[in-house]
Amino acid sequence: MGDKNGHLLGFHQVNLMNSEKLGPTLIPLTFLFLFFILSVFYVSNVKAAEIDWGQVDAKTIKTFYPGVSSWGFMKGKDHGTGANVVKKMGKSCADCHVGKDGSYDIKSDQIISGELKMVASGDAFEPEPLTGMPGFKDVSLQAAYDAENIYLRLQWPGSGASTSEEDADRVSIQIANKIKSFNLYGCFVSCHDDQSDMPENRGEEKKLYGYFAKGKSQDKLDGYLSKGQFLDLWEASFVGTEVKTEDYYVLEDRHEDKNDLTATGSFESGKYTVVITRKLSTGDAKDIKLQDGKSFSMGISIHDNKNKGRKHYVSFPVSIGLSTSGDVTARKF
Ligand code: HEC
Repeated sequence: MGDKNGHLLGFHQVNLMNSEKLGPTLIPLTFLFLFFILSVFYVSNVKAAEIDWGQVDAKTIKTFYPGVSSWGFMKGKDHGTGANVVKKMGKSCADCHVGKDGSYDIKSDQIISGELKMVASGDAFEPEPLTGMPGFKDVSLQAAYDAENIYLRLQWPGSGASTSEEDADRVSIQIANKIKSFNLYGCFVSCHDDQSDMPENRGEEKKLYGYFAKGKSQDKLDGYLSKGQFLDLWEASFVGTEVKTEDYYVLEDRHEDKNDLTATGSFESGKYTVVITRKLSTGDAKDIKLQDGKSFSMGISIHDNKNKGRKHYVSFPVSIGLSTSGDVTARKF
């Protein structure tokens, strides 16, 4: 009995002590929790800064000036013998336009200067020529990832002329991993003649859209979204030396989504450098989920010297392998 009481008492005492301590322990616990949260942020930020880019191979991706050549052009008479092959998805752009030695057979110097005309229509590839700009721009690309994030480092020669948000010099990246036509044709699947700044636009604002999503019902679009069949679009723009990011996705329109990107950058000796960081999996259905052991396709565009809208350089699609083969192999840390 005494024992029992003792036990009861003891139990009671312990209980009392706990409830008495609750007040004072709550404060250190709160601090501990905050510290934990902060340290998680700190660690992920430090990681982003800690990638030793000296250990990561750099691949040169040639970007070229396409003028008004759209998805419609790719499948139309002006593309000559290229059109039928694109329609059937028989070969990629690079299969026809890049030689075995890596040389590019595409007349971008004559497109940007306004000289080149389309074979069937006779229309100019660039109705508003850009003076003093090269037809091509080499972008150096490095990719790395760890358990949490993907890191993309891009460098390209630029003007450094970016001063305001409307005409910011920038790099935009489209990413997809479940669309065959994107693997073959990259950003061109989202570029159309009726968009703002393109020849058949009637003055309304019309942004990027995937040809496969045009005019589809909301049900169908929701289906594409849930299956990850859309283009993720990341932008890092320079306003002065400050780097700003935008996170979009492209389906039947270009939509803004929750911004899951961070970026750092600089402009030195005539060269822009940007490092973009994103979680491999953000948990947002409007972001393409990246996975170890899988590859994804990516298209790059560069806006330079305050040129806006379609007046940019673009790449053919590039595949990035995460511990699997790709045009570029991401280094695992
Ligand atoms: C089957 C081979 C083939 C494929 C695939 C192909 N092209 Fe072409 N492309 C051609 C040919 C051939 C021409 C020249 C057409 C002419 O002048 O008659 C051409 C012309 C062009 C031109 C006009 C400038 C120039 O150099 O003549 C552009 C721009 C272009 N292609 C871009 C692309 C892009 C972008 C893709 C992928 C979306 C692509 N092509 C896919 C064969 C191809």
